[in-house]
Amino acid sequence: MQSFKLLALGGDHIGPEVTMAALDVFQHLTTREQIPVEIDEDLLGGASWDVHQTFCTDDVAAKAKAADAILVGAVGGPEWDAIEIDGPITETDGLTRLRIELDVYNALRPARAWKPLLNKTPYRDNVVTGSNILVVRENSGGIYYGEPRGRDTAAQGQQRAYEISEYHTFEIERIARCALTAARDRKKQLVSLDKSNVMETGKLWRETVGRIARDEFPDVTVRHLLMDFALYEIARKPTEFDVVLADNLFGDLVSDLVGITAGSLGMLPSACLPGPVKSGDRIRGGIYEPTHGSAPDISGLGIANPIAAILSVAMIFEYALGRSGLAKEIETTVEQVLADGLFTVDLGGKATTSEVTQGIIKKL
Ligand code: NAI
Ligand code: MG
Repeated sequence: MQSFKLLALGGDHIGPEVTMAALDVFQHLTTREQIPVEIDEDLLGGASWDVHQTFCTDDVAAKAKAADAILVGAVGGPEWDAIEIDGPITETDGLTRLRIELDVYNALRPARAWKPLLNKTPYRDNVVTGSNILVVRENSGGIYYGEPRGRDTAAQGQQRAYEISEYHTFEIERIARCALTAARDRKKQLVSLDKSNVMETGKLWRETVGRIARDEFPDVTVRHLLMDFALYEIARKPTEFDVVLADNLFGDLVSDLVGITAGSLGMLPSACLPGPVKSGDRIRGGIYEPTHGSAPDISGLGIANPIAAILSVAMIFEYALGRSGLAKEIETTVEQVLADGLFTVDLGGKATTSEVTQGIIKKL
């Protein structure tokens, strides 16, 4: 069996702390399961800037393309905010460079309610118990990348800033297939979000998702909701949603909203994949990372919640190794450790990153 190649890019501040914790879990389970792995570690973000004067070197980009999976901590921090680079976003943000070069357009952002954390959410128990939502976000197009974009001086010296929201049919078709594939694997229900009442991209989105669903996934029930009403409904009755599909901007918004059900930012993993996956499949070249940022305010204290990074490793087992049983085992173990009261500071506890990680490893 060929070794599974994992590239670990800790990034900045708590990024390396939670990445090391997640790697401990990864190594423990791959050793236990006799899965041969090769782990390479390198720099990304500010850590890369300080050594190489670029946020992502060509060497790291090449290693990422050769890896079976890439685990990222988080990048950024105030030290690097003032650096001005006159170039495309791929030069100003190392993680964005990797996302674009690996064409990981399928961003999966799961959030579930954890029994021991129900009282850490703003919800009454009976509203959120059992909530388990997968947001599928289009991750490489739309208004964040549309050209032209910029700023100029318009009439009467007014500053004008603008960007373009743009989608091609193929971009919507491919992300629709990703979401429908995920839905087929779960409850066969998909909710697709758009603003087709006011946006041209929204109209094309709704038509295209509807067509792919009818032609290729007749077994999946699809509901199209307008984005504003959908946010209201998801916040009100999270348990009535399963797979939620949205474009880049709306997916960014809805995934944070859905994150509330998990009790803390420190509980939210993500996977950015270069295509659709169903259980048992293995997909190469995905980027797996916690949803949270580099948390400079708690950097170096050893108190960051490692669970989002550890759940990102669970997603590596599920999607890159095709071992959903191991992914499930990590989730169940996390829930047990939380039930034992082992919480980090974001959840109101006193446990350190390492205590939580060791607690999880001991039970695995
Ligand atoms: P953040 O997610 O880093 O922090 C927000 C708050 O949540 C902070 O109080 C932080 O201490 C807490 N927090 C986050 N993760 C935690 C964890 N695992 N355990 C315990 N507490 C945790 O967001 P913020 O402060 O807006 O951004 C900080 C830096 O991170 C910025 O430079 C930003 O650009 C960058 N960032 C990077 C991302 C990435 O690499 N994907 C995503 C979001 C932000
Ligand atoms: Mg966001």
